[in-house]
Amino acid sequence: MSRAPAIEAVDVSRTYQLDGVSVPALRGVSLTVEAGDYVALIGPSGSGKSTLMHLLGGLDRPSGGRLVIGGREVGTLTAPELARLRNETIGFVFQAFHLLPRTSAVDNVALPLVYRGVSARQRRERAAAMLGRVGLGHRLHHRPNQLSGGEQQRVAIARALVTDPTVLLADEPTGNLDSTTGAAVLELLERLNGESGVALVMVTHDAEVAARARRRIAMRDGVVVADSAAESGSTEVADGGAGA
Ligand SMILES: Nc1ncnc2c1ncn2[C@@H]1O[C@H](COP(=O)(O)OP(=O)(O)OP(=O)(O)O)[C@@H](O)[C@H]1O
Ligand SMILES: [Mg+2]
Repeated sequence: MSRAPAIEAVDVSRTYQLDGVSVPALRGVSLTVEAGDYVALIGPSGSGKSTLMHLLGGLDRPSGGRLVIGGREVGTLTAPELARLRNETIGFVFQAFHLLPRTSAVDNVALPLVYRGVSARQRRERAAAMLGRVGLGHRLHHRPNQLSGGEQQRVAIARALVTDPTVLLADEPTGNLDSTTGAAVLELLERLNGESGVALVMVTHDAEVAARARRRIAMRDGVVVADSAAESGSTEVADGGAGA
């Protein structure tokens, strides 16, 4: 519990500009992702979930408010500094797996390590080991179109985790999978959260999936309307009350 929060957002807003019109996608969101957390992010289509995920992962910057990722305030960072922070801290998994199509599984997974200055040989070793952890040690040299949907998503998960991030952000990771395959991917994410302590923040439209998370955050119209952690007080209580 004494570990620093992985991500802190305070009154964060994001307004898109589209053809001269302002689209307020986030209107003042405050939340803390604790180290090792397991959060389900829910809410209707258009409520701002993906926008928030992009901000939490440093893929985008807030229009207002304060955002701290891995102890660094995003607003003070240059673009290269933010890219580096993202590479060191965050793993992403998307609904559409976003793998390089003409590249083998092992090279897809090794890619984030290129930006770390890891040697080619070590990259392949670490990527192969990570693919082993997601149950794909026998598929290292398959290209994405030679893999099933569930296997492709497991490659994407391995790629997200090969850098040993503190936070894994997954935006509807089971959205393109049948229910059985989706359940297997979800079990994998939960196992990795339990084993390695990577904080997991997952967008889902599935109430059963959301019910499995330790914490649920609900959004509507660009604001957080419910946060089970805040309700129970479990992560909000400060230590300072003892002497009062
Ligand atoms: N690049 C953009 N330019 C303009 N408006 C955008 C842009 N991206 C998103 N929006 C708008 O911002 C709002 C929030 O979008 P967002 O993608 O965050 O919703 P979401 O909760 O992820 O929805 P879904 O469940 O459908 O994925 C929507 O009204 C959307 O139309
Ligand atoms: Mg979305």
